Amino acid sequence: MKKRISLLFLLLSVSGISQQKSIDQKINELLAKMTLEEKVGQLNQYTGDNTVTGPLTINPNKKEEIKAGKIGSMLNILGSEYTRQYQELAMQSRLKIPLLFGLDVIHGYKTTFPIPLAEAASWDMAAIELSARVAARESAASGIHWTFAPMVDIARDPRWGRVMEGAGEDTYLGSKIAYARVKGFQGNKLGDLNSVMACAKHFLAYGAAIGGRDYNSTDISERALWETYLPPFKAALDAGAATFMNSFNDINGIPATGNRRIQRDILKGKWNFQGFVVSDWGSIGEMVNHGYSQDKKAAAYSAITAGSDMDMESNSYRYNLEQLVKEGKVSESLIDDAVKRILRKKFELGLFDDPYRYSDAKRQQKELNNPENTKAAREVAAKSIVLLKNEKNVLPLSKDAKTIAFIGPMVKLKRANHGFWAVDLKDVDSTYIVSQWEGMQRKVGKNTRLLYAKGCGITDTSKAGFKEAVDVANQADVVVLSVGERPDMSGEAKSRSTINLPGVQEDLIKELQKTGKPIVVLVNAGRPLVFNWTADNMPTIVYTWWLGSEAGNAIADVLFGDYNPSGKLPMSFPRAEGQIPIYYNHMSTGRPAKNEDDKMYVSAYIDLQNSPKFPFGYGLSYTSFKYSDMVMSKSKMSKNETLEVSVTVANTGKVAGEEVVQLYLRDKFASVVRPVKELKGFQKIKLAPGESKTVAFVIDNEKLSFYHEDLEFKSEAGEFDVMIGSSSEDIRCKGGFELID
Ligand code: GLC
Repeated sequence: MKKRISLLFLLLSVSGISQQKSIDQKINELLAKMTLEEKVGQLNQYTGDNTVTGPLTINPNKKEEIKAGKIGSMLNILGSEYTRQYQELAMQSRLKIPLLFGLDVIHGYKTTFPIPLAEAASWDMAAIELSARVAARESAASGIHWTFAPMVDIARDPRWGRVMEGAGEDTYLGSKIAYARVKGFQGNKLGDLNSVMACAKHFLAYGAAIGGRDYNSTDISERALWETYLPPFKAALDAGAATFMNSFNDINGIPATGNRRIQRDILKGKWNFQGFVVSDWGSIGEMVNHGYSQDKKAAAYSAITAGSDMDMESNSYRYNLEQLVKEGKVSESLIDDAVKRILRKKFELGLFDDPYRYSDAKRQQKELNNPENTKAAREVAAKSIVLLKNEKNVLPLSKDAKTIAFIGPMVKLKRANHGFWAVDLKDVDSTYIVSQWEGMQRKVGKNTRLLYAKGCGITDTSKAGFKEAVDVANQADVVVLSVGERPDMSGEAKSRSTINLPGVQEDLIKELQKTGKPIVVLVNAGRPLVFNWTADNMPTIVYTWWLGSEAGNAIADVLFGDYNPSGKLPMSFPRAEGQIPIYYNHMSTGRPAKNEDDKMYVSAYIDLQNSPKFPFGYGLSYTSFKYSDMVMSKSKMSKNETLEVSVTVANTGKVAGEEVVQLYLRDKFASVVRPVKELKGFQKIKLAPGESKTVAFVIDNEKLSFYHEDLEFKSEAGEFDVMIGSSSEDIRCKGGFELID
């Protein structure tokens, strides 16, 4: 028996190598036939003109250039019919090399899931992977080969509009989410028709933009590079990310697009990345604006030598690479390497076997109307909601409430629930999107009277609607008030210097508070907002982010208790913009404040507390959880051992609920200062009323290691604090151990 298995194994592995070898062979054979112009064509990517996601350079000859083999990829061409039309053009080229179709499928194609920052609040990796999986299925059925996601930029500045697109401030959580998203998009193997290529972006440190102003410079230490910004990209790579996208910003003075160190030395060198790197929109040409390249020819030289394989929309490669090779300034082998990386993905996607295999109208029709996808969107949305306050247990609402007033500028919006980065399907109307109003209508009993008033706009200053809102509130037993920022106030190029509730919304809240009615405030936003008066004076607040096509149903599920909220904040919420950057894993400083009132010669503001309004990892439930009995398997641990720490968590309330049990560690003394705490583990558990579970974490040397000058991550002997809790500031059990050499 054993012999047969080993023979079978041998045959399989040889066939696997021969299959792989055949792709390499095919690439080399094709490359040998290509002219230099055709090679450069593969490195060129243009946008379709219907959906534009950057400053457009009009080029009326795109179709002719595709037929001439001068374009290797298009973005923003979507739908089985439209992609098929463009692929047919590529099939008229001399070598019939198929196009790659890329699109920003950030959190859904037609079925739209919560914005990624909201999904991050679920701390549920299975849910996050499912979301990406559905997005992949729907887009792959619609002609798309490649999504420009996941965005894995760590960001500690909520003024930056693109925090909505990432996983928040923490590297450990962000790395887990990066891995889950890539797995969701790509499945186990590229080329199956339910997967698309992922694209880890924006490489690198885009979220460190100074002042939270999009596209701004970054000035980051080597330590921050390795400990904060690189790890989520490494996680994406470990999950098999097929592509990377570099970022607009300069990193300590060198634009990412032309940054040899991060692309060639780290990504393609140390990490041995075998996929390809696409520039962000126009970023190669923008090195001229940076003052890094004198002209686009110099920019093309810097980018190709630094490891940027494909030029999105800047025309730098198109008009300069051939000349650079002919002048002997760029070796053709560099071009060949980039071309081979791109061709390999086209082979792996099966496009040479059948260029039209993703453009299938029947499959598209079926997948875009798959009820499983809608169900998934509703579940993930409910898990993403964060209950910030429920002081008088106004929530959950009763479905038999006589009269509910649903007030505010967000109540009846539909597409707004998709947030900034939703796919804009021109031929699909928005009736499938469930507004908050519709969700409520479907949820309440037939005897419940639902009243509505808009109350005010989102950004305008008119209070003309206040009276109607107050009248409606006075007729109700309970008021639900849905406020927030506009969906286009976060996202790309949407930095805000003031991150308040815009317009007169907080005035409306104050007016409605005077009615004395119980009020539930829903906050819809793509970032943490500053809304101190509401946070201090309103007893019931739910953060609903932008939750996607099933927003209305998910919000109703939570408001009426059909889903017990379990979300935890993936970012610290500042009390004021003056606190930014604010994050939980900060250093102690030599003069740490003992408490919020300690102001004498300590690191504190004289006019504000240091702490956030709502901390990282915070979120309430309709039930309560008790932590007890921390057990450490040992008090000393050597570097090649592990240590187990466990706690018992009990549901002490009356309803079932989920809790995200969080493990934080602190290296108390080291050769460099270390954060006061770092998230090093979490487990989301579900408990029935009265049920308890033991939650165990294994601490190994990797969790204790940090960056050292010699580029290695190493731990150092010494004492460590162990903290387990319900948020970064709600530590329920503490312990400690010693690491010995
Ligand atoms: C945009 C974004 C990037 C996106 C690309 C294509 O400028 O920065 O995230 O994937 O262009 O739309």
